[in-house]
Amino acid sequence: MKTLWIAVAMAGLLVPGGSAGSAQTEMLAATPPMGWSTWNHFHHDISDALVRAQADALVSSGMRDAGYVYVNIDGGWEGSRDAAGVLHPTSNFPDMKALGDYIHSKGLKFGLYTGPGPKTCAGAMASYGFEAQDARMFASWGVDFLKYDLCSFSNIMKRESGGDQEKSDALMKAAYEKMHKNLLLTGRPIVFSMCQYGWGEVWEWGAQTGGNLWRTSGDISDSYDRMTSIGFREAGLSAYAGPGHWNDPDILEVGNGGMNAEEQRTHFSLWAMLAAPLIAGNDVSAMTEQTKSILMNREVIAVDQDPLGKEGDRAYATGPLEVWAKPLEGNTMAVALFNRLSGATRMTLRLKDVGWQGRAAARNLWTHEDVGVLSGDYTVTVPGHGVAMLHLSHLER
Ligand code: GAL
Repeated sequence: MKTLWIAVAMAGLLVPGGSAGSAQTEMLAATPPMGWSTWNHFHHDISDALVRAQADALVSSGMRDAGYVYVNIDGGWEGSRDAAGVLHPTSNFPDMKALGDYIHSKGLKFGLYTGPGPKTCAGAMASYGFEAQDARMFASWGVDFLKYDLCSFSNIMKRESGGDQEKSDALMKAAYEKMHKNLLLTGRPIVFSMCQYGWGEVWEWGAQTGGNLWRTSGDISDSYDRMTSIGFREAGLSAYAGPGHWNDPDILEVGNGGMNAEEQRTHFSLWAMLAAPLIAGNDVSAMTEQTKSILMNREVIAVDQDPLGKEGDRAYATGPLEVWAKPLEGNTMAVALFNRLSGATRMTLRLKDVGWQGRAAARNLWTHEDVGVLSGDYTVTVPGHGVAMLHLSHLER
């Protein structure tokens, strides 16, 4: 049974607690993972109590029910490794198994962070040489999601490749593959989140090394410039994403204070068009109504989570005025008109240039209003750094 399970899991599938004969199979990360991470807002200032409070807030705010289920502890939990090789959390996390149980009791899932190097980027203990042992321990804690951050493994790549780029890339791939295999051997379905900043065109091989998601860039920060430089950089990468394997432009900065409302709507719309993992990175225990209206805009979330699993892409652009399209199930489509200028600008959606045949019934996904029937061109004023996002469907015959 275990061998069968591993074979199925290797193919990107898992059998949820079923018997070998079960016809019911489910893909891991069939739609982009949604959840929350400690990193963008709290950085290393984290503890068991903080994570429990955020888990509570995910439930009471409605975030969990909107789809945000992974509670991901990023860097900062790791303490020291003992003589038997067991990696202990810092004293801020007295009992990881109990914390995992608490998270699960709330209908949420448990995410954790380590890396293939001896140390994380913050100089904490990572998994080099202890991959199997760590994977087993994570599974015993009930971990459902593992972010694997390259960090100091890049020194090993440099040293062992002697500067040969191909060798260096091969070492990186092998390191990710190794941890993925160890995760499979635990028998627990664990989403594998690759974080190596897009190096070596990871989108071309990330799925083969077991990645359910892989970062396409360096770290996001809470500014419109950084957010857009990361998000729009994914133009042309849509073919590499699909059910079970996603391009990841990084954790969301919505609600962290560095972007105005238009910019945050652009951020959330762009991530949805990219079929990106939606991992909130704010303090969910203290969200303004505006933050909630963005993170819990179910019509935009539905674009991200569309079961067809196609990433959107740039359809056409005139300088900083970009029109993106994302095919959705049922022969429908999402389109987003992004104005990257700082002032309000008239923008035109040309149906034929997003590949749409005939007329379209359009709905505005931010005003939640039906726009009416479009045929040919549709011109709209888009605020500076803002977005107009529409859902298009065919007219009833
Ligand atoms: C970086 C990573 C970030 C975060 C941080 C933690 O390397 O890209 O997303 O995980 O490490 O120290």
